[in-house]
Amino acid sequence: MSNLQASNLFSVQGRVAVITGGGSGLGRTMARALAINGASKIFVLGRREDALRDTAALAQDGLIIPIKCDITSKESLEAAYQAVAAQTTHVDVLFANGGILGPLMRPPPPKADGSLPSLAEVREELFNIPMAEFTKVMDVNVTGSYYTVLAFLPLLEAANQRRPAPQIGVLSPPTAQVVITSSIAGFNRKVPFSYAYNVSKAAVTHLIKSLSTNLSPYDIRVNGIAPGLYHSEMAENLFADGGIQGSGISDGSFPREMIPLTRGGSSEDIAGLILWMVSTSGGYLNGTMMLTDGGRIGSVPNTY
Ligand SMILES: NC(=O)c1ccc[n+]([C@@H]2O[C@H](COP(=O)([O-])OP(=O)(O)OC[C@H]3O[C@@H](n4cnc5c(N)ncnc54)[C@H](OP(=O)(O)O)[C@@H]3O)[C@@H](O)[C@H]2O)c1
Repeated sequence: MSNLQASNLFSVQGRVAVITGGGSGLGRTMARALAINGASKIFVLGRREDALRDTAALAQDGLIIPIKCDITSKESLEAAYQAVAAQTTHVDVLFANGGILGPLMRPPPPKADGSLPSLAEVREELFNIPMAEFTKVMDVNVTGSYYTVLAFLPLLEAANQRRPAPQIGVLSPPTAQVVITSSIAGFNRKVPFSYAYNVSKAAVTHLIKSLSTNLSPYDIRVNGIAPGLYHSEMAENLFADGGIQGSGISDGSFPREMIPLTRGGSSEDIAGLILWMVSTSGGYLNGTMMLTDGGRIGSVPNTY
């Protein structure tokens, strides 16, 4: 078989993965994609055991392993780490994907006559949201992602220790990798979800860069994903607000001025991306950010 055949280039055969937020949405799709394509163990972490079990039920028995974990608690992360370490010698890839949107924090929309809300109305809308709601979003998305990565470092290092000695002219297998889910909200001021969410994802994007730099001497790669709009539990209300039917993956689901490809992200879009990142041909990704947004980052302001 040629080394350039797709089955070789995109193979994730035998990989061991940990996925936070694996009980729903993008994390569940990631788990399924890895399971279907030959990964040997996939640990899905989250707070809701029933959701994790539902993900596990989508694959052959024992391939996807649910582990209860709240990423905002060091004790819970340590317990989850120990539970994973009891069932595998190493972890090839860690997806720090768990996150929350929190309450929408955005100024009221323009009035019917097109005039802006007064500054008093803007203040009323935003100042009424308790500070704790803002902090919670930071706790889960930023602090939680950071401590998730720290918790799993030993098992990532163990994956590197299993790599064969390099042979001249032979491509070495990928080093261990962390993939953190950020968002286009983190670097586009025009995506008006929420101040807290957008700021948290900007911080996550910076976290990806900092960790990548600081873990590179240990051969642990850190990369990021910045999705645009994908149908999930988190995004459900955004879809409903916009009057979008179903998962929004067919052409014409969204106005072109919002998403140039006129649709939301699909499970194929995210599954193909992460399979590549985890596969042989993703092994040269190091400290980079993968944008999957249908061109939204370059679109004009919108209200979803
Ligand atoms: N969908 C989109 O359009 C979109 C766009 C850009 C970025 N993202 C990012 O993609 C990631 C996945 O989101 P999603 O869209 O798939 O939404 P989702 O279905 O709501 O998934 C979020 C996951 O995070 C987990 N989670 C939340 N708080 C947690 C905590 N304290 N400890 C452990 N797990 C926790 C949830 O599980 P439990 O509730 O069971 O804990 C849930 O499975 C998030 O980081 C999100 O910000 C999504």
